[in-house]
Amino acid sequence: MTSTPTDLTRTTTMTTAHSTTSAKATSDIPVHGTGAGASVILDHLRLGFDGKVAANVTLGIDPGEVVVFLGPSGCGKSTILRALAGLLTPMGGEATVNGKAITGNDAHCAMVFQEDALFPWRTALKNVQFPLGLRGVRGRESKQAATRYLEQVGLGSYLDHLPSHLSGGMRQRVQLARTLACEPQVMLMDEPFGALDAQTRLDMQQLLISVWEQTQMTILFVTHDVDEALLLADRVVLLTHRPATVADVITIDRPRDPKAQFEESYQLRRQSILEFLGHSPVGAH
Ligand SMILES: Nc1ncnc2c1ncn2[C@@H]1O[C@H](COP(=O)(O)OP(=O)(O)OP(=O)(O)O)[C@@H](O)[C@H]1O
Ligand SMILES: [Mg+2]
Repeated sequence: MTSTPTDLTRTTTMTTAHSTTSAKATSDIPVHGTGAGASVILDHLRLGFDGKVAANVTLGIDPGEVVVFLGPSGCGKSTILRALAGLLTPMGGEATVNGKAITGNDAHCAMVFQEDALFPWRTALKNVQFPLGLRGVRGRESKQAATRYLEQVGLGSYLDHLPSHLSGGMRQRVQLARTLACEPQVMLMDEPFGALDAQTRLDMQQLLISVWEQTQMTILFVTHDVDEALLLADRVVLLTHRPATVADVITIDRPRDPKAQFEESYQLRRQSILEFLGHSPVGAH
């Protein structure tokens, strides 16, 4: 698949002294997708509340790319994802998916939250069937499709379990299956594994990698975990304190390769990002 770079994708620049690698134009990044993911453009996207700006971001994302946002608490990461999910109207600028401005009921972007967002009274199967119903898939077809999505996340034996009878990791898997059932072109993930224990988190990261390999979705992922960012991302976007602006964009040479973390270059990059997160200047809160 060929990428379709735009001027915006080329203008992601390094502006801090903490740069760990040169920001590569996305046109140079190998795109591994089969066409399932959408391009996302944030064009001077200005977001905020009560007239106060919380984010002002310009960034281009290729179809099938995994972009991870890292930044200080309260800088505006969730706000950016919420705008892309159509839950927040921009104060200015524009966000587009495959060239089309995002509207409130945009079906191309689906969100996975950190907190448990399942319907507690519905079984795993019925939770996953919910978005299928919204898409007009019903009856046996809906049951078969929901079963397939739950099998994809390793929960084929838990179809009839209520969320309260599942572990935190399993509930997150159901949420992932439910999001996959939306067949989004862009998956928005806001600290999806933040509440999980370390081992479950590693399992979920591997599951996400395998889902991405199968679907080639575009993924925008927010985390506070530098190792998670360096494992998953094609590019890591470092954001400043509120209002979030792009401080740095780091291209990961070997995304999704767990062995990379044993290399010296990985440790240097990790340290540099940690320093950035610890020392970025405080803006207006
Ligand atoms: N509904 C809202 N009304 C008013 N202000 C809000 C609202 N939601 C977020 N904010 C403010 O916008 C800023 C950015 O919030 P946001 O939740 O995007 O931060 P974040 O980077 O996701 O933080 P964290 O890492 O802690 O999750 C914060 O200062 C927050 O107080
Ligand atoms: Mg947040």
